[in-house]
Amino acid sequence: MGVTILAIESSCDDTSAAVVRDGYILSNLIAGQDIHMSYGGVVPELASRAHQANIVPVADQALKKAGVRVDEIDAVAFTQGPGLLGSLLVGTSFAKGFALACSIPLIEVNHLHAHVLAHFILEKDKENRVPSFPFLCLLVSGGHTRIIVLRSHFEMEILGNTIDDAAGEAFDKCGKLMDFPYPAGPVIDKLALEGNKKAFSFSKPSVKGLDFSFSGLKTSFLYFLRDRLKEDPEFIVKNKADLCASLQDTIINILIAKLIKASQITGIKEIGIAGGVSANSGLRNGLAREGEKRGWNLFLPPLIYTTDNAAMIGITGYYKYLRGDFSNQNVAPQARF
Ligand code: KG4
Ligand code: ZN
Repeated sequence: MGVTILAIESSCDDTSAAVVRDGYILSNLIAGQDIHMSYGGVVPELASRAHQANIVPVADQALKKAGVRVDEIDAVAFTQGPGLLGSLLVGTSFAKGFALACSIPLIEVNHLHAHVLAHFILEKDKENRVPSFPFLCLLVSGGHTRIIVLRSHFEMEILGNTIDDAAGEAFDKCGKLMDFPYPAGPVIDKLALEGNKKAFSFSKPSVKGLDFSFSGLKTSFLYFLRDRLKEDPEFIVKNKADLCASLQDTIINILIAKLIKASQITGIKEIGIAGGVSANSGLRNGLAREGEKRGWNLFLPPLIYTTDNAAMIGITGYYKYLRGDFSNQNVAPQARF
């Protein structure tokens, strides 16, 4: 039998466990935390408590769904960071205890590396397309916005980064201004489908090179709403769909323009997106159009592998296992890298 990895992800507000065998996903379970919805963001203390309650049942279900016994697991991989320290502690402690009890190797995984390697996840009975190297990837999540070149599974070069807010934060913070629950990204995506993206325009940043900035857009959106609400207190309610469509279009155009630039500079046409915001339908459609026009070999991850999931930790853990890249029991979670 091949290499079987149990993977744990607990960096933010999703408790996830997956079983990966030889790069194929056998199970991938995610327990979300609705408790944060009304707070407009993740409340760290509530998140770690929910992880504590969820971690054992989620891991147990992942093993059952995969049809794998505990003694068949060859190694346990877990998210070391970046993320919320209290949340990471729960997954790290579980993984350490599991590895110790089963006398198997422990593998620490960088959450951002895992988002990118999600493109290498294999699924049974599916046509599995995986990128070849060099691979240019736009990583867009709640905490990060980066353009990365992957030259092998382990050689990564960051070409561009956000200098302030992440794209996901722009969605979430602007959504909060419209009184949407957290996370607002999926809500805006849905409402945008019925709106006119040309209805309103917001300021676009001018940032050098391949870096990003989203805090100016958030401020411009805030002032725009404040002025319009003075004239009409019902402004947001009456214009929800158009506001979402226009805001989303602005964010997407910023992202796509930089990705095109990165492709032109590097000459790389093997291109993908990763992270929670890569679930956005406008971004996916926009990139599909650009990719077609520019002859890109485009990789849009299945939706389940865009937002936080343990399958991506499992695939990264699998590649680290093949290199014999293991952690010891002194490994500690890291909120930042
Ligand atoms: O990767 P992820 O699950 O967690 C982090 O590592 O940050 O990303 C979460 C982010 C949130 O900001 C959420 O609003 C955003 O991804 N998101 C979306 C969509 N689905 C999730 N943003 C725009 N459109 C979506 N469909
Ligand atoms: Zn993430």
